[in-house]
Amino acid sequence: MFRQARWNEPLLKELSEEESEIETFKLRGFPENMMRDKLNIPNLPEPRVVRHFIRLSQMNFGVDLGTYPLGSCTMKYNPKVCERIVLNQKLRMVHPLQPQETCQGILQILYELSSYLVEITGTSRASLVPAAGAHGEFAGALMIRAAIKERGETKTRNEMIIPDSAHGTNPASAAMAGFKVVKLPSNKDGLVDVEALKGVVGKNTAGIMLTVPNTLGLFEKNIVEIVKIVKEVGGYTYYDGANLNALLGKVRPGDMGFDIVHLNLHKTFATPHGGGGPGAGPVCASKGMEEYLPVPLIEYDGSRYFLEYDRPKSIGLVRGFYGNISVLVKAYAYIRMLGAEGLRKASERAVLNSNYLFSLLDKRFYETPYGANLPKKHEFVVSVGKVLREKDVTARDIAKALLDYGVHAPTTYFPLIVQEALMIEPTETEDFEEVEEYARILNEIAYRAYENPEWVKEAPYNTSVGRVDEAKASHPRTMCLSWRNLEKV
Ligand SMILES: Cc1ncc(COP(=O)(O)O)c(C=O)c1O
Repeated sequence: MFRQARWNEPLLKELSEEESEIETFKLRGFPENMMRDKLNIPNLPEPRVVRHFIRLSQMNFGVDLGTYPLGSCTMKYNPKVCERIVLNQKLRMVHPLQPQETCQGILQILYELSSYLVEITGTSRASLVPAAGAHGEFAGALMIRAAIKERGETKTRNEMIIPDSAHGTNPASAAMAGFKVVKLPSNKDGLVDVEALKGVVGKNTAGIMLTVPNTLGLFEKNIVEIVKIVKEVGGYTYYDGANLNALLGKVRPGDMGFDIVHLNLHKTFATPHGGGGPGAGPVCASKGMEEYLPVPLIEYDGSRYFLEYDRPKSIGLVRGFYGNISVLVKAYAYIRMLGAEGLRKASERAVLNSNYLFSLLDKRFYETPYGANLPKKHEFVVSVGKVLREKDVTARDIAKALLDYGVHAPTTYFPLIVQEALMIEPTETEDFEEVEEYARILNEIAYRAYENPEWVKEAPYNTSVGRVDEAKASHPRTMCLSWRNLEKV
């Protein structure tokens, strides 16, 4: 079993018996009363400082260390070459306020990226501005609101239909854009209940926000019918494309009849996801909805690239400047590197890995409450089996025990419609040996927990920080997570 070093790492200040006084330099224009002439820093030999920081780095887990199948987050390995490209000196020196004639290169990259995203989604135009998936959703919901306003139906069309398995950001974005959220139940297979949909649509329907594949990792079978039902009552169709890494080169939201699509470039292409960013959530629109896209759009007039702001029906600016450029450039590099065929293969591999891992799980311990017999897409959701639940073993226990084996836990307790949920997304970048090893570990933990539930209750045993009290950890008084506070938690 992999054992992570368990360092009880002191602060540098505590490691050092004496301090060195160093002179600081003066910053012009900095308020005098905030300046310090001298600074005391710990006096330690270089190796001790280096080891200190390396030990600290070992207290963390990252995808460069091991499998990280956090469902819904796509924590895949990201090619380092994308980081190298974005660190290019010329790109780093571009300033958002410099004259457009002097930064044609980056504008060309953004223009081409927009056209790739339009091609990939089967839509008509894209705005690269939103800074995250949720931000793209919010922009999309505002576009729907703008279109409804133009029809003069703001007062009546105020309901956004969202399936109960949706990512929590969907209802939040719809509510922030001023809509009343109508929750749509899933059927026994975990898909949209079409009969229930027919029961809630009507003159108040602003639209539907659909995640495909959904958060159970299942492809919505009745998409064409769902889109038709909503459009027949005059509503708009929104496609949450955060999970597009399951479908690249296979199907396109625009072809399925969706009006608006957002993408999570940080999940589908390059840039590690998680930890709050940075991300990019471009929003793409089909014909008829383009004019509402947030500005600026990137245009080309045959001789030069430019930022287009003059769009009277646009929802306007949704953030400063033109988008999260480093994430956009990494996605551009990734798309160019893989090409159409490579992107399709990446999706096929994501789906294959997910189905392979699912097939290796011991179904006595990991049950599938929804769509057990349906093929999985890039992720799947299992529930901790009844035989384990009877012994009081929870999804949290399994997740904590995984950390002792040198791999990361999957997402737990999401989607909310699954009891004791483990949401597993191996991603396209794990090879078969890693997938097999992860399944072996999950099965071993389940078996050990079945034999000895007390063992799993205390896990993890080998990480630097053990089990924290999650209620206390998020209490405002302990939220100040300094190194010292962790011990108290
Ligand atoms: C299906 C789905 N929608 C929306 C989001 C929100 O994206 P972000 O975290 O970039 O705001 C995610 C994030 O993982 C997601 O998986």
